[in-house]
Amino acid sequence: MKKVIIDTDPGIDDAIALCYALSHPKLEVLALTSIFGNVSTELATQNALRICELCNTSVPVAQGADSPLHIKRNPAPDFVHGVNGFGNIELPVPTTRRDKSSAAELIIDLVREQPGEITLIPVGPLTNLAKALEQAPDIADKVAEVIVMGGVFYASGNVTPFAEANIWNDPHAAQKVLTASWPVVVHGLDITHQIVFDRPYLGRLAAASPRIGGFLHNAAEFYINFYKEQRNIDGCCPHDLLAVAYAANPQWYKTETGRFDVITDGEQIGRTTTTKVCESNKQIALDVDRTALIDEYFDILGTRP
Ligand code: BDR
Ligand code: CA
Repeated sequence: MKKVIIDTDPGIDDAIALCYALSHPKLEVLALTSIFGNVSTELATQNALRICELCNTSVPVAQGADSPLHIKRNPAPDFVHGVNGFGNIELPVPTTRRDKSSAAELIIDLVREQPGEITLIPVGPLTNLAKALEQAPDIADKVAEVIVMGGVFYASGNVTPFAEANIWNDPHAAQKVLTASWPVVVHGLDITHQIVFDRPYLGRLAAASPRIGGFLHNAAEFYINFYKEQRNIDGCCPHDLLAVAYAANPQWYKTETGRFDVITDGEQIGRTTTTKVCESNKQIALDVDRTALIDEYFDILGTRP
């Protein structure tokens, strides 16, 4: 099993990805760490705990930074994920408590305890990873891989014409994380817009898995309404799932090597760029076997309660 830590701002597509990660036979989720983005950091922590309880599992959940490194925090996009982050579908108040460590501390401790073993999967703004790197530069050589959901290279952004939300929410952190010496694979909108979970698919998932699939189906309704307006599609893009599924099934993906940069101010703030180079431990995921991913998601979640 691949050992992973998921840094997340749940969020509807985060919930879709977390339910898969917590159920996947090839993934061992060592911890979740929370970050602002779709909701405040405090609510992200509570939502991560809610998802663990929904999936009948208990992993440490550590709370992350409550603001970006250098810019003012952007307002949470409640028109995308609802005020509660789950399309205004309520899950019970969690009974489990968060871990006492901060997100950065927990990441540092686990990575130092198991050097070379742990893959980090940030699917929100990259502040926690940047702080972990600042506090413990040695972890750059001890992390197996960093699989990011964020950025866009060959298409338009989703918050400005140039920028994708996770990078735009903390461009300085993204700059640090995407240019550090550790291996990075970035799943930007170039690939995440290729996968759509439509209403019939989510309906079948709800029928097969009334509790977990049913929750995802109901929460996604709000998200689908946003996508209808934004992209004129009758379904939603499960962005964060692309990064998590890569951890379990890298063979499904086509990637390109490059060198990254992030624009940290001005009109293009949050824009991610790449320069093509052959020898690099930085990759962009550009294509995926859609059928394999959509089918596997159903196979895994459809057998849950
Ligand atoms: C990313 O931003 C968030 O709204 C989603 O959860 C995803 O991580 C997509 O741009
Ligand atoms: Ca997210």
